[in-house]
Amino acid sequence: METVLQHTAAFVQQYFENEPTGHDWWHIKRVWNTSKTIAEIEGANLFVCEMAALLHDLDDWKVSEDGDETPIKANNWMKEQGLDNEMIETIASIITQLSFKGLGVDTTMPTLEGKVVQDADRLDALGAIGIARAFAFGGNRKRLLYHPDIPPKKHQSSHEYKKDEGHTINHFYEKLLYLKDRMQTATGLKLAAERHVFMEVYLEQFYKEWNASL
Ligand code: ADP
Ligand code: NI
Repeated sequence: METVLQHTAAFVQQYFENEPTGHDWWHIKRVWNTSKTIAEIEGANLFVCEMAALLHDLDDWKVSEDGDETPIKANNWMKEQGLDNEMIETIASIITQLSFKGLGVDTTMPTLEGKVVQDADRLDALGAIGIARAFAFGGNRKRLLYHPDIPPKKHQSSHEYKKDEGHTINHFYEKLLYLKDRMQTATGLKLAAERHVFMEVYLEQFYKEWNASL
């Protein structure tokens, strides 16, 4: 099992080396580390959490041209590594359900391992790193930092969420500020609290500067 994890980490590291939207190897590595920390405290199956964390963005629509609901690349990799079908199915279903799909879409995870990895992934969207990643993503998609006349939306479907092209400040009101209350483990919630407050302070400062307030 240890060798499978090592091989998987090396494969994913190479795959995501130069990813330009904040989904680079270091994102994966942070999610992997946070998943391990949360899994140990919450008593989740470590191997399942670690594999799902390592493979979670391989087939994501934001980073993969043929990104789809079925994690094809992750499945092929797991088959190559000789994992049994039940294990592949368990990990693949976490990967498929993990992503945020719009504020109006329920993405509650059915298993403890799923909750752990989703919390870990979402924690990396919060706080100082979360802010950096949001603007990196926005820049990559040629989005404005902010436009005061374009209000945020509550997306009701994955399709609506994916096709939105609004400015990056909206992303805070369409996703990031809601993640804390959607954490699914006690440990995730604890870690999210501080990062959430940091984003609130950041936004306050952003508007102060935007409005040239004293
Ligand atoms: P998720 O599965 O929740 O989408 P990811 O690991 O794929 O998590 O990363 C999502 C991150 O991508 C967001 O937290 C943000 O940093 C960036 N991102 C996605 N959509 C946008 C957007 N519309 N504007 C700015 N950043 C975005
Ligand atoms: Ni991710």
